Amino acid sequence: MNNISIEKFIEEIPKAELHLHIEGTFEPELLFEIAKRNNKKIKYSTIADLKNAYRFNNLQEFLDIYYAGANVLIEEKDFYDLTWAYLIKIHTQNVVHTEIFFDPQTHTDRGIPFNTVIKGIYRALEDGKNKLGITYKLILSFLRHLDEASAFNTLKEALPYKKWISGVGLDSSEVGNPPSKFERVFAKAKEEGFLTVAHAGEEGPAEYIWEALDILKVTRIDHGNRCLEDDKLVQHLAKLKIPLTLCPLSNLELKVVSDLKDHPIIKMMDKGLLVTVNSDDPAYFGGYMNENYLGITKALDLSKKQITELVKNSFKASWLTSKEKEEKILQVEEYFKKN
Ligand code: ADE
Ligand code: ZN
Repeated sequence: MNNISIEKFIEEIPKAELHLHIEGTFEPELLFEIAKRNNKKIKYSTIADLKNAYRFNNLQEFLDIYYAGANVLIEEKDFYDLTWAYLIKIHTQNVVHTEIFFDPQTHTDRGIPFNTVIKGIYRALEDGKNKLGITYKLILSFLRHLDEASAFNTLKEALPYKKWISGVGLDSSEVGNPPSKFERVFAKAKEEGFLTVAHAGEEGPAEYIWEALDILKVTRIDHGNRCLEDDKLVQHLAKLKIPLTLCPLSNLELKVVSDLKDHPIIKMMDKGLLVTVNSDDPAYFGGYMNENYLGITKALDLSKKQITELVKNSFKASWLTSKEKEEKILQVEEYFKKN
């Protein structure tokens, strides 16, 4: 037994990330660099000014800045560089498996071809697998503030790249855009063999979580914080072991919680929910995976055992094969015993 510090324990434990928007990893330095080479104007004259704008009172205030940042991405190389920078970063944090979202409509609506976006991201993910040993799944996320026709069109554009995309998701402005709006799109996506997830219960009500489960037939809920307002829903999620991909620093920055000390992750664990820790949009919310784990560990006084359980949950909730999951979980358990 090495008895290393809790910080080191978090840094070195091999972990998985299941809720990450690649556009949300766009660090200001890279954003300025890519804007310059593409001759794209940005509203802020310095990196410091841009960082200063990262103060949000709600999801929409964040999304406005997030979409504006993504506007400077034009070439395949831009999408490659964005994804590669993320992979290099998580490699330093011992993330060994990642399941990432990309938002094609954010780019195709600006005239960037679907294939430019996906090829850049895919090439970087493959390099990450081959050079850094990071396994991955790619999830196409529909923007829920746009209409059904736009989502259908995006799904159609994705079909030639089916082999590269494991599943579809649903993100963007939640309130007023319930999962049921995309019932037919998700049915078609399932028919085509995609796995499904959806953001629900971040700002929207528990009812949206029910809709995501019953109407979209998702296998995982992104966020899901507001399930706690509905005891029957909590029991249902626990019984069926439907994972929730929680994002503590995101919740703090978007005022879903006012303090990390109020974060419900442990309460949820105690209720038998399969909860996981993720970074959502790390360039905007002040931290990647390790900062998220460290934040809740300090705020909620988590033990190494609790951290280990959360890490194991992420592998359980991932889309790895049963055999791959078993291997990873065994590694995590051995790491816990040693440290
Ligand atoms: N897109 C990027 N991050 C998001 C979040 N936290 N919620 C909804 N849509 C998003
Ligand atoms: Zn998200």
